[in-house]
Amino acid sequence: GVMKSVSGLQDLEERLARALHVNQAIIVSGNSDRYSWVKKEMGRACVQQMKEKLAPKDIVAVAGGTTLAAVAEMMSPDSNLEEVSFVPARGGLGEKVEIQSNTISSTMAQKAHGKYRLLHVPDQLSDETRESLILEPGIKELLSIIRQAKMVVHGVGEAETMAARRKTKAETLGSLKDKEAAAEAFGYYFDRAGQIVHKENTVGLQLDDLTNEQFVITVAGGASKAEAITAYMKHRPSDVLITDEGAAQAILDL
Ligand code: BG6
Repeated sequence: GVMKSVSGLQDLEERLARALHVNQAIIVSGNSDRYSWVKKEMGRACVQQMKEKLAPKDIVAVAGGTTLAAVAEMMSPDSNLEEVSFVPARGGLGEKVEIQSNTISSTMAQKAHGKYRLLHVPDQLSDETRESLILEPGIKELLSIIRQAKMVVHGVGEAETMAARRKTKAETLGSLKDKEAAAEAFGYYFDRAGQIVHKENTVGLQLDDLTNEQFVITVAGGASKAEAITAYMKHRPSDVLITDEGAAQAILDL
Protein backbone atom coordinates (compact mmCIF):
# COMPACT_ATOMS: atom_id res chain seq x y z
CA GLY A 1 0.00 0.00 0.00
CA VAL A 2 0.89 3.69 -0.03
CA MET A 3 2.20 3.76 3.53
CA LYS A 4 4.53 0.88 2.87
CA SER A 5 6.07 2.39 -0.25
CA VAL A 6 6.45 5.76 1.49
CA SER A 7 8.39 4.25 4.39
CA GLY A 8 10.41 2.20 1.89
CA LEU A 9 11.63 5.38 0.21
CA GLN A 10 12.28 6.94 3.59
CA ASP A 11 14.65 4.13 4.46
CA LEU A 12 16.38 4.56 1.11
CA GLU A 13 16.66 8.31 1.73
CA GLU A 14 18.37 7.75 5.05
CA ARG A 15 20.80 5.21 3.63
CA LEU A 16 21.61 7.45 0.68
CA ALA A 17 22.19 10.51 2.86
CA ARG A 18 24.58 8.50 5.04
CA ALA A 19 26.43 7.05 2.05
CA LEU A 20 26.96 10.45 0.39
CA HIS A 21 27.36 12.53 3.58
CA VAL A 22 24.57 14.89 2.60
CA ASN A 23 22.32 16.41 5.25
CA GLN A 24 19.19 15.29 3.51
CA ALA A 25 18.29 13.12 0.56
CA ILE A 26 14.87 13.31 -1.06
CA ILE A 27 14.00 10.47 -3.39
CA VAL A 28 11.07 10.41 -5.80
CA SER A 29 9.92 7.06 -7.13
CA GLY A 30 10.92 5.85 -10.59
CA ASN A 31 13.94 6.29 -12.82
CA SER A 32 14.14 9.47 -14.89
CA ASP A 33 16.32 7.70 -17.49
CA ARG A 34 13.17 5.83 -18.46
CA TYR A 35 10.29 8.21 -17.80
CA SER A 36 10.37 11.97 -18.17
CA TRP A 37 7.61 12.48 -15.60
CA VAL A 38 10.09 11.38 -12.93
CA LYS A 39 12.19 14.47 -13.71
CA LYS A 40 9.08 16.59 -13.17
CA GLU A 41 8.54 14.92 -9.80
CA MET A 42 12.11 15.84 -8.85
CA GLY A 43 11.26 19.35 -10.02
CA ARG A 44 8.20 19.40 -7.80
CA ALA A 45 10.21 18.20 -4.78
CA CYS A 46 12.83 20.86 -5.47
CA VAL A 47 10.26 23.65 -5.68
CA GLN A 48 8.88 22.52 -2.32
CA GLN A 49 12.35 22.68 -0.77
CA MET A 50 12.94 26.14 -2.23
CA LYS A 51 9.67 27.37 -0.75
CA GLU A 52 10.59 25.93 2.64
CA LYS A 53 14.14 27.22 2.75
CA LEU A 54 13.90 30.66 1.09
CA ALA A 55 12.57 33.87 2.60
CA PRO A 56 11.17 36.95 0.82
CA LYS A 57 13.85 39.07 -0.93
CA ASP A 58 16.43 36.28 -0.91
CA ILE A 59 18.67 35.72 -3.92
CA VAL A 60 18.87 32.28 -5.46
CA ALA A 61 21.45 31.26 -8.05
CA VAL A 62 20.37 28.57 -10.51
CA ALA A 63 22.32 26.44 -12.96
CA GLY A 64 21.16 25.12 -16.33
CA GLY A 65 20.21 21.73 -17.74
CA THR A 66 17.08 19.73 -18.43
CA THR A 67 16.60 18.87 -14.75
CA LEU A 68 16.66 22.52 -13.73
CA ALA A 69 14.28 23.23 -16.61
CA ALA A 70 11.89 20.73 -14.98
CA VAL A 71 12.26 22.58 -11.67
CA ALA A 72 11.38 25.84 -13.43
CA GLU A 73 8.38 24.19 -15.05
CA MET A 74 7.00 23.17 -11.65
CA MET A 75 7.58 26.57 -10.01
CA SER A 76 4.60 28.51 -8.58
CA PRO A 77 4.13 31.55 -6.32
CA ASP A 78 4.49 31.30 -2.55
CA SER A 79 4.59 33.82 0.30
CA ASN A 80 8.22 32.84 0.97
CA LEU A 81 9.17 33.60 -2.61
CA GLU A 82 7.93 37.20 -2.57
CA GLU A 83 10.52 39.46 -4.19
CA VAL A 84 13.00 36.61 -4.42
CA SER A 85 15.57 37.24 -7.17
CA PHE A 86 16.55 34.41 -9.48
CA VAL A 87 19.99 34.76 -11.04
CA PRO A 88 22.08 32.44 -13.21
CA ALA A 89 24.92 30.80 -11.28
CA ARG A 90 27.45 31.17 -14.09
CA GLY A 91 27.70 32.59 -17.59
CA GLY A 92 27.41 30.79 -20.94
CA LEU A 93 28.44 27.13 -20.94
CA GLY A 94 27.52 26.17 -24.49
CA GLU A 95 24.02 24.90 -23.79
CA LYS A 96 20.93 25.33 -25.96
CA VAL A 97 18.96 28.42 -25.03
CA GLU A 98 16.00 26.48 -23.54
CA ILE A 99 18.20 24.94 -20.87
CA GLN A 100 20.57 27.84 -20.22
CA SER A 101 20.64 29.18 -16.68
CA ASN A 102 19.53 32.61 -17.92
CA THR A 103 16.35 31.10 -19.38
CA ILE A 104 15.73 29.02 -16.28
CA SER A 105 16.16 32.07 -14.00
CA SER A 106 13.64 34.09 -15.94
CA THR A 107 11.11 31.23 -16.14
CA MET A 108 11.38 30.60 -12.42
CA ALA A 109 10.92 34.30 -11.67
CA GLN A 110 7.93 34.54 -13.94
CA LYS A 111 6.25 31.50 -12.38
CA ALA A 112 7.11 32.46 -8.81
CA HIS A 113 6.12 36.11 -9.39
CA GLY A 114 9.64 37.03 -8.36
CA LYS A 115 12.46 38.95 -10.01
CA TYR A 116 15.38 37.97 -12.19
CA ARG A 117 18.63 39.30 -13.57
CA LEU A 118 20.42 37.96 -16.61
CA LEU A 119 24.13 37.43 -17.15
CA HIS A 120 24.96 38.00 -20.80
CA VAL A 121 28.40 36.62 -21.46
CA PRO A 122 29.51 34.56 -24.44
CA ASP A 123 30.58 30.92 -24.08
CA GLN A 124 34.22 29.78 -24.07
CA LEU A 125 35.93 32.99 -23.06
CA SER A 126 39.65 33.56 -23.35
CA ASP A 127 41.33 34.53 -20.07
CA GLU A 128 41.88 37.99 -21.46
CA THR A 129 38.22 38.55 -22.34
CA ARG A 130 37.00 37.16 -19.06
CA GLU A 131 39.29 39.42 -17.09
CA SER A 132 38.11 42.53 -18.89
CA LEU A 133 34.43 41.48 -18.83
CA ILE A 134 34.36 41.19 -15.06
CA LEU A 135 35.42 44.81 -14.86
CA GLU A 136 32.36 46.00 -16.81
CA PRO A 137 30.10 47.82 -14.29
CA GLY A 138 26.91 45.93 -15.24
CA ILE A 139 28.61 42.55 -15.02
CA LYS A 140 30.48 43.49 -11.87
CA GLU A 141 27.22 44.41 -10.15
CA LEU A 142 25.54 41.20 -11.20
CA LEU A 143 28.51 39.11 -10.07
CA SER A 144 28.26 40.66 -6.64
CA ILE A 145 24.52 39.84 -6.56
CA ILE A 146 25.30 36.24 -7.52
CA ARG A 147 27.83 35.99 -4.70
CA GLN A 148 25.15 37.14 -2.24
CA ALA A 149 22.92 34.20 -3.13
CA LYS A 150 21.44 32.47 -0.11
CA MET A 151 20.77 29.36 -2.12
CA VAL A 152 22.31 27.62 -5.11
CA VAL A 153 20.29 25.06 -7.08
CA HIS A 154 22.09 22.97 -9.66
CA GLY A 155 22.14 19.71 -11.56
CA VAL A 156 24.87 17.14 -12.05
CA GLY A 157 25.72 15.47 -15.34
CA GLU A 158 27.91 12.64 -16.54
CA ALA A 159 31.18 14.18 -17.72
CA GLU A 160 31.16 12.58 -21.16
CA THR A 161 27.51 13.39 -21.85
CA MET A 162 27.98 17.00 -20.82
CA ALA A 163 31.18 17.50 -22.81
CA ALA A 164 29.48 16.12 -25.93
CA ARG A 165 26.34 18.21 -25.39
CA ARG A 166 28.44 21.37 -25.13
CA LYS A 167 30.47 20.61 -28.26
CA THR A 168 33.63 20.80 -26.21
CA LYS A 169 36.90 21.18 -28.15
CA ALA A 170 38.71 17.94 -29.06
CA GLU A 171 41.69 18.99 -26.98
CA THR A 172 39.56 19.40 -23.84
CA LEU A 173 37.73 16.12 -24.57
CA GLY A 174 41.07 14.33 -24.64
CA SER A 175 42.17 15.85 -21.39
CA LEU A 176 38.84 14.99 -19.70
CA LYS A 177 39.36 11.40 -20.80
CA ASP A 178 42.97 11.28 -19.60
CA LYS A 179 41.97 12.68 -16.24
CA GLU A 180 39.04 10.25 -15.99
CA ALA A 181 36.41 12.92 -15.52
CA ALA A 182 33.23 11.37 -14.15
CA ALA A 183 30.96 14.24 -13.19
CA GLU A 184 30.07 17.75 -14.23
CA ALA A 185 28.29 20.53 -12.36
CA PHE A 186 27.94 24.14 -13.54
CA GLY A 187 30.94 23.99 -15.81
CA TYR A 188 33.27 22.12 -13.47
CA TYR A 189 34.39 18.57 -14.18
CA PHE A 190 35.33 16.12 -11.41
CA ASP A 191 37.02 12.72 -11.26
CA ARG A 192 35.70 9.83 -9.17
CA ALA A 193 37.52 11.10 -6.10
CA GLY A 194 35.69 14.41 -6.41
CA GLN A 195 38.77 16.37 -7.51
CA ILE A 196 38.28 19.19 -10.04
CA VAL A 197 39.93 18.14 -13.30
CA HIS A 198 38.66 20.91 -15.58
CA LYS A 199 36.76 24.16 -15.37
CA GLU A 200 34.98 25.99 -18.19
CA ASN A 201 36.18 29.52 -18.57
CA THR A 202 33.19 31.70 -17.75
CA VAL A 203 32.22 34.30 -15.18
CA GLY A 204 29.87 33.88 -12.22
CA LEU A 205 29.87 31.62 -9.23
CA GLN A 206 33.17 29.84 -8.73
CA LEU A 207 33.17 26.73 -6.59
CA ASP A 208 35.57 28.45 -4.17
CA ASP A 209 32.91 31.11 -3.59
CA LEU A 210 30.61 28.56 -1.99
CA THR A 211 30.77 28.85 1.77
CA ASN A 212 28.86 27.00 4.45
CA GLU A 213 26.39 29.84 4.51
CA GLN A 214 24.91 29.05 1.13
CA PHE A 215 22.22 26.42 1.06
CA VAL A 216 23.03 24.12 -1.84
CA ILE A 217 20.37 21.95 -3.44
CA THR A 218 21.51 19.37 -5.97
CA VAL A 219 18.89 17.88 -8.27
CA ALA A 220 19.98 14.91 -10.36
CA GLY A 221 18.44 11.54 -11.08
CA GLY A 222 18.48 8.55 -13.38
CA ALA A 223 20.53 5.40 -12.78
CA SER A 224 22.96 6.58 -15.48
CA LYS A 225 24.04 9.43 -13.21
CA ALA A 226 24.94 7.21 -10.23
CA GLU A 227 28.71 7.56 -10.64
CA ALA A 228 28.49 11.24 -11.46
CA ILE A 229 26.39 12.06 -8.39
CA THR A 230 28.71 10.02 -6.16
CA ALA A 231 31.81 11.73 -7.57
CA TYR A 232 30.38 15.22 -7.21
CA MET A 233 29.26 14.62 -3.61
CA LYS A 234 32.83 13.65 -2.76
CA HIS A 235 33.85 17.15 -3.76
CA ARG A 236 31.22 18.92 -1.71
CA PRO A 237 28.24 17.19 -0.12
CA SER A 238 25.14 19.32 -0.66
CA ASP A 239 22.62 20.38 1.95
CA VAL A 240 19.87 18.60 0.07
CA LEU A 241 20.13 16.04 -2.72
CA ILE A 242 16.96 15.51 -4.70
CA THR A 243 17.12 12.38 -6.79
CA ASP A 244 15.08 9.40 -7.95
CA GLU A 245 14.89 5.76 -6.96
CA GLY A 246 16.80 4.67 -10.07
CA ALA A 247 19.84 6.75 -9.16
CA ALA A 248 19.58 6.04 -5.43
CA GLN A 249 19.58 2.25 -5.89
CA ALA A 250 22.44 2.43 -8.38
CA ILE A 251 24.50 4.66 -6.05
CA LEU A 252 24.05 2.28 -3.12
CA ASP A 253 24.99 -0.66 -5.40
CA LEU A 254 28.27 0.96 -6.56
C1 BG6 B 1 24.14 22.05 -16.94
C2 BG6 B 1 24.46 22.55 -15.58
O1 BG6 B 1 23.52 23.03 -17.68
O2 BG6 B 1 23.32 20.90 -16.83
C3 BG6 B 1 25.13 21.49 -14.79
O3 BG6 B 1 25.30 23.69 -15.65
C4 BG6 B 1 24.48 20.13 -14.88
O4 BG6 B 1 25.15 21.90 -13.44
C5 BG6 B 1 23.91 19.79 -16.22
O5 BG6 B 1 25.43 19.14 -14.58
C6 BG6 B 1 22.92 18.65 -16.10
O6 BG6 B 1 22.06 18.57 -17.17
P1 BG6 B 1 20.76 17.69 -17.19
O7 BG6 B 1 20.16 17.98 -18.51
O8 BG6 B 1 21.23 16.27 -17.06
O9 BG6 B 1 19.91 18.11 -16.06
